[in-house]
Amino acid sequence: MGAGVIGGGWVAYFLARGFRVRAWDPGADAEPRLRAIVAAAWPALTELGLAEGATMDNLVVTPELTAAVGDAQMVQESAPEQLDLKRRLFADIDAATPEHVVIASSTSGYGMTEMAGEAAAPHRLVVAHPFNPPYLIPLVEVVGGEQTAPEVVKWTSEFFRHIGKSVITMDREVPGFIGNRLQEALWREALHMVANGEATVEQIDASITEGPGLRWAFHGPMLTFHLAGGPGGMGRMLDHFGPSLLSPWTRLEAPELTAELRDSVVAGCEEEAGSRTVADLVRERDRRLVDMLRVLGKVPHHR
Ligand SMILES: NC(=O)c1ccc[n+]([C@@H]2O[C@H](COP(=O)([O-])OP(=O)(O)OC[C@H]3O[C@@H](n4cnc5c(N)ncnc54)[C@H](O)[C@@H]3O)[C@@H](O)[C@H]2O)c1
Repeated sequence: MGAGVIGGGWVAYFLARGFRVRAWDPGADAEPRLRAIVAAAWPALTELGLAEGATMDNLVVTPELTAAVGDAQMVQESAPEQLDLKRRLFADIDAATPEHVVIASSTSGYGMTEMAGEAAAPHRLVVAHPFNPPYLIPLVEVVGGEQTAPEVVKWTSEFFRHIGKSVITMDREVPGFIGNRLQEALWREALHMVANGEATVEQIDASITEGPGLRWAFHGPMLTFHLAGGPGGMGRMLDHFGPSLLSPWTRLEAPELTAELRDSVVAGCEEEAGSRTVADLVRERDRRLVDMLRVLGKVPHHR
């Protein structure tokens, strides 16, 4: 339900795992856009290994929401990140989907408690938050709302594990979940640096890709600092650097997104991309992610 960047990526992944997929998206040109996303994802998915019988032909794009979910076995929602829209959409999907079927949301930050408000059966609504591109990045964060049944959270976690994903099951709702909360903190700091002329877009990207980003792919920010403390590990690290954390390195309040800031971030990205289009960058990203998944031994094991 909703087949843009994320919904389209999910469609590609589900097809590659051998499922038959029905998609619905009310946007103009939704079907050609979706088929282009799937076609662009297919080489990487093929290289990592398709499930038996998996084919792009198992995709049907339906003009009506009800036709898409009427006999579904699992529903993934990936519509725009607007709370009112999601609330209405969940009520509609819930009304049209067989009652035993789980309905999951790709939302980047809303809790299911706030999105489920208008649905008649909120117990089967759950967040399953992916990272872009969902057909290559392993992580899915699964978390229910106040009214989600615990067995729905469990089923959803097991479903995504079964199809080769790394799942973090959270037992409480946190805005932005875990991964986006951390990404958001970094993103706010980056915007402040551009707004204040402290760093260029390109310097910001290089400061991660040439530095901490390399370590984060396998140790994460906590184990990274555990090693930075030397033989004394994290204990020594906190004792040594803890006091300096009081000095104001960060500005965690979000900066005002002025037209000027927006334009300079966009211009910086265009300059950094050079002659590479977004489609070129998607191919480059997928190539490198496939290589990294191999090197790290993270090629998904699936049915
Ligand atoms: N882009 C990311 O990196 C990312 C990562 C993780 C999660 N998400 C989440 O995934 C969801 C989709 O984001 P996206 O980046 O794919 O956006 P997008 O704009 O690329 O796609 C949204 C799609 O929804 C369609 N749409 C519009 N109105 C709709 C409606 N009423 N019902 C169903 N579909 C509708 C649009 O036509 C479009 O194809 C959001 O909740 C977002 O927070 C995005």
